[in-house]
Amino acid sequence: MSRKILVTSALPYANGPIHLGHLVEYIQTDIWVRFQKQRGNQCIYVCADDAHGTPIMLKARQEGITPEELIERIGREHQQDFADFLIAFDNYYSTHSEENRYYSELIYTRLKEAGHITSRTIKQAYDPVENMFLPDRYIKGECPRCGAADQYGDSCEVCGATYTPADLKNAISVVSGASPIEKESEHYFFRLQDFEDMLQAWAAGGHVQSEVANKLDEWFNDGLREWDISRDSPYFGFRIPGTEDKYFYVWLDAPIGYMASFRNWCDRNGVDFDEYWKPDSEAELYHFIGKDIVYFHALFWPAMLDGAGFRKPTKICAHGFLTVNGQKMSKSRGTFIMGRTYLRHLNPEYLRYYLAAKLGSSVHDLDLNLDDFIQRVNADLVGKLVNIASRSASFINKRFDGKLADTLEEPAMYREFAARGEAIAEAYEQREFSKAIREIMHLADQANQYFDDRKPWVLAKDPATLPQVQAVCTQTLNLFRVLMNYLKPVVPRIAREAEAFLRLEDQSWDAARQPLLGKTIAPFTALATRVDRDAVDAMLEESKETLAATTPPPSGPLADNPIAEQVEIENFAKVDLRIARIEDAAYVDGADKLLQLTLDLGGEKRNVFAGLRSAYEPEQLKGRLTVMVANLKPRKMRFGVSEGMVLAAGPGGKDLFILEPHEGAQPGMRVK
Ligand code: 2FM
Ligand code: ZN
Repeated sequence: MSRKILVTSALPYANGPIHLGHLVEYIQTDIWVRFQKQRGNQCIYVCADDAHGTPIMLKARQEGITPEELIERIGREHQQDFADFLIAFDNYYSTHSEENRYYSELIYTRLKEAGHITSRTIKQAYDPVENMFLPDRYIKGECPRCGAADQYGDSCEVCGATYTPADLKNAISVVSGASPIEKESEHYFFRLQDFEDMLQAWAAGGHVQSEVANKLDEWFNDGLREWDISRDSPYFGFRIPGTEDKYFYVWLDAPIGYMASFRNWCDRNGVDFDEYWKPDSEAELYHFIGKDIVYFHALFWPAMLDGAGFRKPTKICAHGFLTVNGQKMSKSRGTFIMGRTYLRHLNPEYLRYYLAAKLGSSVHDLDLNLDDFIQRVNADLVGKLVNIASRSASFINKRFDGKLADTLEEPAMYREFAARGEAIAEAYEQREFSKAIREIMHLADQANQYFDDRKPWVLAKDPATLPQVQAVCTQTLNLFRVLMNYLKPVVPRIAREAEAFLRLEDQSWDAARQPLLGKTIAPFTALATRVDRDAVDAMLEESKETLAATTPPPSGPLADNPIAEQVEIENFAKVDLRIARIEDAAYVDGADKLLQLTLDLGGEKRNVFAGLRSAYEPEQLKGRLTVMVANLKPRKMRFGVSEGMVLAAGPGGKDLFILEPHEGAQPGMRVK
């Protein structure tokens, strides 16, 4: 009987490109979904961009565009990357959608009516210049334990201490550089503890992997606590019903985005949404996620669903992180590789194959070892599997006009290959892809062995044994066809080309039970070529370069760096630009981006901290004329008060140029 299965991958944030770390998950999910479809199940795969939250709001502001424009652009880039890695979503949507607003409000309202939402006033760090509350990651300062400079508001990367932003010494807002103050505001909370018994029973019911169940036990032992689900304005998200200026925290509406994307698909395909989401639904619901977001998916999410009268997930499938060459992906080593960079050098199916060959059902991290990658793709995928077809097809094409024999030479062997399908299917079903690949490659060895034993190249020399050549090659091509069908979820394009070469329609899992006999096949064209080490090296090299070119602030032609929103002339007139002479310039202890400048405005002296260190030595600046904003409100920074701003142009890094006036300009002159 065909199953109804709804599958999701985690929703990527709409503020940056897809990298290979992301792709582990989408490739894992896509393989599983393709497998389910090939088995004849009704399997729907939905995803979306995770479009809300402070980082997206600030990134848009930094680029001088609206958040809507930013998420639209990033959404397009994500979808192109996914399509090029052959990730076949049934629907790809955005959490900034009407469907998501509807379900977020519905779930919140139902939870509130059932008494699971409370509110109270809390104190939080606030940026008095930008007039916004600051998430922990937007506060930096000195670690209260070891004193390390430049640490985030929640934890120290040097000594590992965790703390609250209020504990940081000499804290500054990353947004404005101002010292944060504490401010009160009312927040809304979801009472997770109301669901403890339900969650314990659910977690024990086989809905999570054993490692995840152990982690959940630790959390149950610590006690579940209420969860802050609101954020103050300014915030890019959905306003909470019944409030003037409170917004749903991005993590509240993100998983609801799974429902919203599915709802959008249902409406366009005439499918009943409730069939999948009602509490007693027979449909299955699978969420593929990274192990870092288990808390959200295995506690908050089932509790929200349960409290709002929806079904809970069938299974949370968590995976580990990707390392490259045994280490965390690193920008300086060039191993922090963007999907797009990979695609410029290598075939997407090679990554799919390699990851599948290493993926199991556990939450263990996964290593992309690039030497091993080259070796496995070349030796197994190209050398063993594709080779079976190219070796036998050339005889069939050249000697028999492309026609296969009418009978198999070794029917028992063929039946054995077909019979292995169930064990391989079970491995896919359990997400033990590496096991499936091992089985397939083991069979490929047998097929190659068979071909080598029969030596058709010798038989072809004698007209009397020529019919045997056709029989042997027909047998081999039939074995190839079975194996390609098993590998189809992993390498769908190669498999599709193999089907075209064998003149077959899109094959279901069981189709290969019947051998291909007496039919004419198409001429063989190379299905896959070997990985070239130079291509891998070039990808690493480009990844190093990409970083240098994309270090903030954003760069590029105007298309990528559009002109900011228009302003009235009165607004511009408020800015007092003056010529200043850089009297002195010096490094700032503990600040790797800043230089301290003493500016002469024609008598008046100003102290300014400027982010020019990557571009200039202090000595290069001394004595030069430049342009400054003279009436910028003084800003208290960690190192002192900054009394203005100098103007510079360029993409950033070493390519940043102070503006220098032409001859005749004198310190203090107004710039008009
Ligand atoms: O961790 C992340 O990248 C989140 N954007 C994942 C969200 S998954 C779901 F809950 F929407
Ligand atoms: Zn520390």
